[in-house]
Amino acid sequence: MAAPEPLLRVRDLTVTFPTPRGPVRAVDSLSFDVPHGRTLGIVGESGSGKSVTSLAVMGLHTGAEVSGSVVLDGRELVGLPERELNRLRGRRMAMVFQDPLSSLHPYYTVGEQIAEHHRVHFGSRRATARARAVEALAEVGIPEPKRRAGEYPHQFSGGMRQRVMIAMALVCEPDLLIADEPTTALDVTVQAQILDLLVRLQRERRLSVVMITHDLGVVARVAHEVLVMYGGRAAEQAPVDALFAEPTHPYTRGLLDSLPRLDDRDDAPLRAIPGSPPSLLEPAPGCAFAPRCARAAAGTAEERERCASERPRLAGTEGHVTACHFPASPASVASAPSPYEGVES
Ligand SMILES: Nc1ncnc2c1ncn2[C@@H]1O[C@H](COP(=O)(O)OP(=O)(O)OP(=O)(O)O)[C@@H](O)[C@H]1O
Ligand code: SF4
Ligand SMILES: [Mg+2]
Repeated sequence: MAAPEPLLRVRDLTVTFPTPRGPVRAVDSLSFDVPHGRTLGIVGESGSGKSVTSLAVMGLHTGAEVSGSVVLDGRELVGLPERELNRLRGRRMAMVFQDPLSSLHPYYTVGEQIAEHHRVHFGSRRATARARAVEALAEVGIPEPKRRAGEYPHQFSGGMRQRVMIAMALVCEPDLLIADEPTTALDVTVQAQILDLLVRLQRERRLSVVMITHDLGVVARVAHEVLVMYGGRAAEQAPVDALFAEPTHPYTRGLLDSLPRLDDRDDAPLRAIPGSPPSLLEPAPGCAFAPRCARAAAGTAEERERCASERPRLAGTEGHVTACHFPASPASVASAPSPYEGVES
């Protein structure tokens, strides 16, 4: 039996920014699916192209060249006129950003802002929109929602403001929610509460979610599938359990090794992947990760030459693919020492 069509299907998405120093290819030939009622975690270091990817899906890039295909529920979005994209944004797909304060208007009450969103997309009456706004605030766990709907953004704490943004995103009942680092600016306890809220809403509403983060801990908590990005490309894609148990790409392995562990000594040095992310202005001909890759460094001269000159393509088993010439075999991963063990950052 053929697999059901995913809600979101992205193929060969490429986003290039013209800059005075030359074109910057921030996202390069990225493909992924988000099935109905599933959460995809997109993870990678700063500058790996996570936000550019999400904005491209929403059709929010101005001045960038976007190619490839973004199909939402059978409908191609790349090349769609702005007016039609606007109708889809909010109504079918919505986004939550890292900094709720900059997304909320300081002069309007949060209730007015959520209600306005509902009115614009449904043409609803004021009283209906106001009632929906209060319901939405209740659903995201704001106490006394009727009273708080009449307050202004500055009267809310950071975590409560993020709840307001989630209420705003969900008031029009979209099918797809893209959350770009929604908890990065929050303290750890509040972070966990917001993640739990997102997981609950995702399950109750059978939402499809794209969760963008640099934090593998967030991925472990919310995602079903994971896309690891490096330098604008996919490094590894796998179901979440497989990615944590059997990471086959050296970059993924490095990210996992950077996570603090309970059995770490207090004075143990932090493990980090040495080096810095690649230049997107002049991409290297081979593997973008080569200058930082412990696997390549430990290989033969011939292997290093291949890494430096030939770009690896995604390959692997169905559902778990890796862009590496010398991926770790899943069976070997559990027993092998980390290639980053003892490497000073
Ligand atoms: N408007 C733009 N013009 C030129 N380059 C851009 C533009 N927007 C983004 N970039 C570049 O694209 C690359 C990817 O940026 P992006 O914001 O997607 O990274 P990110 O993975 O979201 O990082 P972070 O974790 O810091 O949010 C970066 O190198 C960035 O400088
Ligand atoms: S292709 Fe080579 S440099 Fe790139 S990740 Fe694999 S081993 Fe490392
Ligand atoms: Mg970002």
